Amino acid sequence: MEEQKIIFSGIQPSGTITLGNYIGAVRNWPLVSELGFGIFSVVDMHAITVRNTPADLRARTLSTLAVILASGVDPEKNLVFIQSHVPAHAELAWILNCYTMFGELGRMTQFKDKSKQHADNINAGLFTYPTLMAADILLYNTDLVPVGVDQKQHLELARNIAIRFNGIYGDVFKIPEGHIPQLGAKIMSLSSPDKKMSKSDPNPKSYISITEGKDSIIKKFKSAVTDSDNKIEFSDTKPGISNLLTIYSVMTGCTVQEAVSRFDGRGYGEFKLAVGEAVADGLEPLRQKYEYFMQNKDYLEKIYTESADKACRLSYRMLSKVQKKIGFIKK
Ligand code: AMP
Ligand code: TRP
Repeated sequence: MEEQKIIFSGIQPSGTITLGNYIGAVRNWPLVSELGFGIFSVVDMHAITVRNTPADLRARTLSTLAVILASGVDPEKNLVFIQSHVPAHAELAWILNCYTMFGELGRMTQFKDKSKQHADNINAGLFTYPTLMAADILLYNTDLVPVGVDQKQHLELARNIAIRFNGIYGDVFKIPEGHIPQLGAKIMSLSSPDKKMSKSDPNPKSYISITEGKDSIIKKFKSAVTDSDNKIEFSDTKPGISNLLTIYSVMTGCTVQEAVSRFDGRGYGEFKLAVGEAVADGLEPLRQKYEYFMQNKDYLEKIYTESADKACRLSYRMLSKVQKKIGFIKK
């Protein structure tokens, strides 16, 4: 029998979940979990690196959890918990901070981007964000981390921290591998296809929320920015059309080549409408399950409480091992 893999991933409750989050990450979580045991977390501690209204953060944490379940992750076989419920994450993050270099953190592109976006609040948490992410992953002997391509640099840092730590103390951490989808690892904004689709974009036309209604989805695809030569092909010089082809392929399960031949000779208007319909229809079952979970808050609470209990037990094993290795006295 093949070895069971441990899969870990996280998502911030920092706004509406976009089609980019879905295609690049969440959609793959139930699929990758088939390889073993999935541990999925709504990372609320990461989300406070930017300012939030407390009531909003609470609401978004629950709705993000509901999206993970609606995407098909089976909570009977996997864990779905809230990061702040498992204290070992913060505890290991502190330790890892002491094995991470200032220069390494300063090179993180997400830190540079977010420092520009939040110039009035460049706090220490924003800077050390990647060591908390490394702790999330390393606590569970994780083999695979399904993420979009924007998290590759953070993941590489987590691996480097683990290798450095193991170099000093012996084989403590398992070195995790990224699991980045071949198609759709970076879905671009509908209004500026040179930027990634992001829930923090102030222009709502730039992203699709995965719980949005059909009419609104179709409207946004109809107004998606493309070029003007009216030729449907996949190429670096046509970022708008290539993005739409990627989205269409993932949502309908065809290859990009098949999508290109399906729309050969047709106009952009017809193509955009087809993409909008594929997205709206593809997301409909998820939306219904999401509504169902949001109306069953007791069920959500049961899942996140039971999962956190298990995650606490698992993570304390690793934390204790690390504490012993570095010379902390057992209490
Ligand atoms: P975040 O919203 O930053 O918590 O991201 C959650 C997950 O979604 C991470 O694995 C990201 O890599 C992924 N992700 C975010 N935006 C996109 C995008 N535009 N395209 C593909 N994946 C994305
Ligand atoms: N930093 C990730 C993001 O912004 C979210 C995240 C936190 C994560 N901890 C993680 C992803 C651990 C994978 C594994 O998307």
